[in-house]
Amino acid sequence: MSLLIKNGIIVTSLDEYKADILVEGEKIIAIGEGLDGRAREIVDAAGMYVLPGGIDQHTHFALPFGGTYTRGFETTNAAIVGGTTTIVDFVPQPKGMSLRESVAKHIEEQAKGKAMVDYSFHGMVMDVTNELFEEIPKLPEIGIPTLKMFMAYKGTPFMCDDGVIFRGLQAAKKAGVTMMVHAENGDIIDVLQKQCVEAGQLEPKYHAVSRPPIVETECTSRAITLAEAAGAPLFVVHVSCIGAMEAIRDAFAKGLPIYGETCPHYMVLTVDNLAKPDFEGAKYVCSPALRTPEHLEAMWQAVQKGWLQVVGSDHCGFNWKEQKHIGYYDFTKIPNGAPGVENRLAILWTYGVEKGRITRQRLVDVFATAPAKFNGIFPRKGHIGVGADADFVLFDPAWKGRIAVENSLQGVDFSSYEGMEQIGRADKVFLRGKLVAEKGIFLGELGQGSFIKGEPYGTAYSGL
Ligand code: URP
Ligand code: ZN
Ligand code: ZN
Repeated sequence: MSLLIKNGIIVTSLDEYKADILVEGEKIIAIGEGLDGRAREIVDAAGMYVLPGGIDQHTHFALPFGGTYTRGFETTNAAIVGGTTTIVDFVPQPKGMSLRESVAKHIEEQAKGKAMVDYSFHGMVMDVTNELFEEIPKLPEIGIPTLKMFMAYKGTPFMCDDGVIFRGLQAAKKAGVTMMVHAENGDIIDVLQKQCVEAGQLEPKYHAVSRPPIVETECTSRAITLAEAAGAPLFVVHVSCIGAMEAIRDAFAKGLPIYGETCPHYMVLTVDNLAKPDFEGAKYVCSPALRTPEHLEAMWQAVQKGWLQVVGSDHCGFNWKEQKHIGYYDFTKIPNGAPGVENRLAILWTYGVEKGRITRQRLVDVFATAPAKFNGIFPRKGHIGVGADADFVLFDPAWKGRIAVENSLQGVDFSSYEGMEQIGRADKVFLRGKLVAEKGIFLGELGQGSFIKGEPYGTAYSGL
């Protein structure tokens, strides 16, 4: 079946131009003019920007955290309606299980038959053994070129000490596996949390008090030092503050392969959200914590200048009523993370492009192209080009509305961006040549998503 997307303006990470896109089956087979005769079906994209389908490299579907789980892949249609056609999900490692077994389990028990978006994975270390370091270089064999280690969450299976991070970096380097880190000083946070609790400071706003920017800045600098010592590349996820961003920027400027990601909530939400009364602040408990406005402006600047290369959602579908309330009497027990897989494009466009903070080219890069490269799925994904998967968004810049949980498919009882103005939206979303969403309505099928294997860095199109 051939399909022609006609009259749209194609936006890439480098330029934009008016041209038509011819799709045969799941692939783009031609871009240009005069292609009408070769198409059976024509979709008129006049007035629309044609963007590559988004790659959200930071999602947590079915994540165990704080004694509960985030919503699973049955809610991945939320990604699609928001213009994201591929996610890269973090695979939890159950105790006693290798990373390879954990990936197989996550595919079999979580993604298969449910995913409505295409998906790749990152490993996520939660059980440190000697075998772990032998296994890391073998991850590319199963299509996993990235691995996350945590320097925070003391007292949980997540936190790794510097020795483990360093050995992990050495092992990763051997096979082109990119190490990702959650960089916050877990020891300082542990002390500050205990001091808050002892002082009776138990409301959600103390989450930010116990995780000030300096714990992130110190830890990011330390992670960079560990990577430099190991001679390995490093990708710092969910960067929220000026100091951490500058450490990444300066290391890269020095010639080191050090990269970073921020998230929409660190660009438009502030510490004031955490202080909302009646436990509403719990909705915004995520780590690192939300920051004061000067940090938000710095995140936009870093995205525009290319000092941070990716914007991921860090999507965690916890319900407020049952799950965030686990920490009603003690903020340290609130499950960390906020939903947002649906909102990444809307936030980047409304508060970035529309406000003149970022260009459309930078939006496409941080939303789709750069994450596809870093995760080894470019040029099949994240790119509008001949031979690529026909994943794209027909984006209507004239649409205006507000973000509301009642329109959300994320499967949770709140939106992090409730009531915020939205300009522009994904009018139509195509996944591998098939129309899967229109005007916020999901038109696809449960289980339509496919596993996309990632290639290690050092291959032709790697971002590293
Ligand atoms: O608060 C967050 N970010 N929760 C999800 C786990 C993580 O650290 O990414
Ligand atoms: Zn993290
Ligand atoms: Zn995360």
